[in-house]
Parts: sequence; C-alpha cells; structure tokens
Amino acid sequence: MSEKVYPVRPEVAAAAHIDNAKYEAMYEQSVNDPDAFWGEQGKRIDWFKPYSTVKNTSFDPHNVDIRWFEDGTLNAAYNCLDRHLETRGDQVAIIWEGDDPSDSESITYRDLHERVSRFSNALKAEGVEKGDVVTLYMPMIPEAAVAMLACARIGAVHSIVFGGFSPEALAARIEGANSKVVVTSNFSLRGGKVVPLKANVDKALQNENAAASCKTVIVVNRVEQELPWVEGRDKWYEDLVAKASADCPAEEMNAEDPLFILYTSGSTGAPKGLKHTTGGYMVYASMTHEYVFDYKDGDIYWCTADVGWVTGHSYIVYGPLANGATTLMFEGVPSYPDNSRFGRVIEKHKVNQFYTAPTAIRALMQQGEDVLGDSDLSTLRILGSVGEPINPEAWEWYNRIVGDEKCPIVDTWWQTETGGIMIVPLPGATAAKPGSASRPFFGVQPALLDAEGNTLEGAVDGNLVITDSWPAQARSIWGDHERFVQTYFSTYKGVYTTGDGARRDEDGYYWITGRVDDVINVSGHRMGTAEVESALVAHPAVAEAAVVGYPHDLKGQGIYVYVTLQSGYEQSDELMKELRLHVRSEIGPIASPDLIQFAPGMPKTRSGKIMRRILRKIAEDDFGALGDTSTLADPTVVDDLIEHRMNRK
Ligand code: PRX
Repeated sequence: MSEKVYPVRPEVAAAAHIDNAKYEAMYEQSVNDPDAFWGEQGKRIDWFKPYSTVKNTSFDPHNVDIRWFEDGTLNAAYNCLDRHLETRGDQVAIIWEGDDPSDSESITYRDLHERVSRFSNALKAEGVEKGDVVTLYMPMIPEAAVAMLACARIGAVHSIVFGGFSPEALAARIEGANSKVVVTSNFSLRGGKVVPLKANVDKALQNENAAASCKTVIVVNRVEQELPWVEGRDKWYEDLVAKASADCPAEEMNAEDPLFILYTSGSTGAPKGLKHTTGGYMVYASMTHEYVFDYKDGDIYWCTADVGWVTGHSYIVYGPLANGATTLMFEGVPSYPDNSRFGRVIEKHKVNQFYTAPTAIRALMQQGEDVLGDSDLSTLRILGSVGEPINPEAWEWYNRIVGDEKCPIVDTWWQTETGGIMIVPLPGATAAKPGSASRPFFGVQPALLDAEGNTLEGAVDGNLVITDSWPAQARSIWGDHERFVQTYFSTYKGVYTTGDGARRDEDGYYWITGRVDDVINVSGHRMGTAEVESALVAHPAVAEAAVVGYPHDLKGQGIYVYVTLQSGYEQSDELMKELRLHVRSEIGPIASPDLIQFAPGMPKTRSGKIMRRILRKIAEDDFGALGDTSTLADPTVVDDLIEHRMNRK
C-alpha cells in the first residue's frame, strides 16, 4: 500500500460536477432514501412512459429479484441517438481511429442515427424480432456500435463475444444464447496484420448445436480479400443496409426488458451469460460516465477498451452516447506503428478524458519515459484506470508522464456483473491514494465480511460484498437464474458477493486485493482456472491439470499450469508448445499459459482434493511458508514440484 495522498486541487473541485460536500450529501441520500435519489436521477434519460415506482429489489437467496423503474418504458438507442438530434445532430458522436494512423472517421449523431436505423431495418428483414439474441463478433469498427444500437432499437438482445475468443468459445456462446444471427467482419486489422474473423465464425458454425440456432451471418467488409462464402447463410452488411430504409421507429421497451447478455468467467463451470436490462442500466451508465469522468459538453472522451468487454459496453457506447458525448473508438493497438501511438491519438483528436488499463500503462512504462514521443498531451484533464488493481508505481508513472501531474486519476473498480463503476475517487471530491479505488459511488454500499459472514468494522481485510442493489446490476444469468443465485447470493446471505477481497483503511478507502475465488485476472482479462484446466484435460496427453495465477510484471497475473501426463507420454519442449497452442485454440490467445510445469503428481489430500494453496505458493516462488502439508496423501510430491518450479526470482 502506498502511503501517499494526492488531495483534490481546489481549482479542480470548483470546476467539477461533484465536490466533496456534494458527494457526501448525495451519497447519504442515495443510501438512506434510494427511491427519492434514483427517482430523481432516473430523469436524466428519456422515458416513453414514466415510471411510478423506483426500487423493488430482493437479495433474499430464496427470492433474488431485482427490478428498477419497473413500470417505465424506454428505448436505449433512442436515448443514445434520437433525443440528441435536435440539439446536437451535427455534433460528432463517434470518432473512429483506425489501425492505420491515416484511417479515421468522424460520425455525427445524425449519421449514426441513420446508420443505426438502416441496420435495424436490415435485422428485421432477416427475421430478427424483439427478444431475439444477436451475437456480435466484431473488431473495433463503427459497425460494432451500430450493430449494438440497432439491436437495442428493435428490442433484440445483443451478446458480444470478444474477437480474441476462439471458434470453440464462440460456438458455446452462440449455442448458450440460442442466437439466430451472428454479425461479424470478413477480417480485422490489428497492428498492421490482417486477422481472419469470419473464418472463426465458419469454424464455430461447424458445431452442430451452434449451427442449429444460427441461420444467418452478416459480414462487414473490412478488408478487401477473398474468403469462403456459404450461400444463403452469409450476407454482406453493405448489401443489406443499402436496401434498408432509414426510417425505423425505436421499439418501446420495458425498463426490465433485457438489453444485452455478456459472458464472463467464474470459478466453476462454463462462462455465464450475465443478463443486463434496460432502464436501470442506462441511468447508471449515463450517470457514472458523467460524474466519474467529469464529462462536460464539448469534451472528447476516449476509452481504450474493446466493445467485447463490459467496459466497452458501458463506457464506449451506452454511457457516453446517452450523455450526448463524443466518444473515441480505437481499432488498433498501443504499439503500432510504434509505442507512441496512444500519445499520437490523444494529440490528434485533442482527447480530454483517457480511460485505459494498468496492463497498458505498465507496457508503456517499460519502454521508458519518452515513450509517448513529443505528442502534445496538454488537452488531457482526467485519467482513468480499470480492470485490475493498479500498482502504485504504474499509478505514479501515469500521473507524471501522461497526466503531467495535473490530471486526477480515477481508479474504477467494478465488474461485468455490476454493469457500471462501483468504487472510485470522484475527481473533484476524493483525494487519491495510488492503488486504492477509494470510495463507493452513489447508491453503492460495500461491506467486508469474514469467512463466516460476519460484518467487519473499521480498518480491516475481508471479502467484499455489496449489501443492497444498485440500478445497473445484472439481473440474472441467461437461462439459469438458479446459478445466478448460487454464484452471487448464497455464500453470504442477503448480500451480493463480488468474489474480490479488499482492505478498508482508516479513512474508509477500499483497496481491492484481488480475487478470493479461482478466477485469475490476466492483463485485465478475467479467466476461470477451471476453464483453462478443462481445455488442458481435453488434450490426449494430459491426465490431470491444475491452473493458478502468479504475479506477472506486465500482465498483473500470469497463468501457471501444472500438468500430469498420461502414461505413454513424455515431457518435452514440443509437447509444451503443443499444449499452449491447444489452449489458445480451445479458448483464445488470452488464455495462453505463461508457464507449464510437468508434474509427476499433484499435492492431494487423502480424500483426493488438490491443495491449490500449495500450488499457488510454489508458482509464486514463495515456498518457504507452505503451511501444514501433513494432510497430504504423499508429501514428497511437494519436493518435486519445488525442485522443478518454473518461476524463479
Ligand atoms: O477482480 C476485480 C478486477 O476485475 C474483476 C472484474 O472483471 P470483469 O468482470 O472482466 O470486469 C472488468 C472491467 C470492469 C473484478 O472482480 N477489477 C476490475 N477493476 C478493478 C479491479 N481490481 C482492482 N481495481 C480495479 N480498478
């Protein structure tokens, strides 16, 4: 923990939407009288039919039921587009910056409205109806945002699958959501390389179950190149929108109708599709975007996430566009054409708010202090961080090199499940402590519990839970409400369990210490160790596999794999390579193991349970204090594991 405190500068507080006095007064009302607070805040978006009730939520494990604004009706795309036409039709909604620095585009609210309306009609013409699920497997091109908003406009539910996921992972998500249509692009461009994206969809649809639900693939023409085509199933996006009318009224949706599904990893089982609904989500995404980034009219806001993650949903598309903001969408990577790219983009588009991940900051930091070249970063006003704990060294570097010591840093803690930012230092209100996400946003009531579920008071470490509902919370797991209840509401009764550990200091600041379950966070990407294990044991050479995280300088956590081979297989560098490739093809490159140790046996209790605590310690190269190993069936296994450990400091 860093001891440093960076007070809010008076001029920042004076100019900000929220100063400390406002924060305290609003926070108090938000938790003491949520109906009044959110009843008022709900008006920040447009409703077709106003709500008459605000909060109706239960965390009781026998009846988890979460509803906000439940009798109101609205449309998310209407809120992101139509309502701005009169006042800011000619303002830029999306600045798109392509992979190649010479490739960029500015799309006004009027343009975007027209594009979305056309694609909405195209989807309808393909038979997509209200409530249907449309899977998007897209690069970071404007059509990704258009497709999201078109789904929202007609009441279809989008399910975005990150473009880095493998065909197998894509197939499972198409099947799981019973999705009729997939929208993709023929290729994508990253760092100057052409990546075949549609080819992955073709492979995914070789899976019978995925093919049984998906009958139409809509393909954006991103790169002119030949590709295989399935007549009748595959259709060019450009052809469909050319014939579609630009007039498509926004469907009237109930506040609790689903807006999107987003799959994320947990500690057990296959990834789960979190269900997010319309009203509460839009209110919360809009409000957090405005207050956390202190967004003001005319600002240029840039979030570097991918729309495949929740950050892209809430803070590239829905939050900013609901606020009539100008949001920048970046197709490329920070290292192309060279490491100064982030700086160049900030300068080129005069970016005011910049929101990125610690992993990207650490990668830049490794390149030295002049990595951003001579780019003019003076337009920057607010810096954000998301996805994993930011180590104080990276925070200080971000503050000094990117922010020139004048930009407040908002370290935003939240999750796919929470829909929006939950714990964060508001720029005009909260003194920053490097590495701490600090204080709760309005309406968010964090608490720390011990293993038995007792609430801990004061400065203490514990399991982070949220004791009452907030509007953007996921409502369920798609098709499996029982799993939703089991995962989030049964470990501790009556509260939402985050799966994270945290420490609270004397000032009431929260410091996220990382996951307390079998989930690891690699470069801000969340991964279930069980998922990687099941990919590994699907390989014929593998008898048993155990996966743990270990501290990694760049990625935050790396993936450490212990593998016991089937008899008849010999360990070799070749096999190691093959296993790595196998995991990449089962899940995707983000799950690629960093270190693989061949282990003749796993440390197991006499009842056969793998003692992961021991594996974690060895992976951390911290085997001095393994604790009690006397319950192991064969304690000598541990000596072998230590002797052949892969991560030596
Ligand atoms: O462990 C926390 C970590 O990322 C997890 C959520 O991952 P995901 O659902 O993929 O959403 C990422 C983007 C919101 C959390 O349980 N995490 C996220 N933000 C932070 C963080 N850990 C520490 N500090 C953060 N600011």
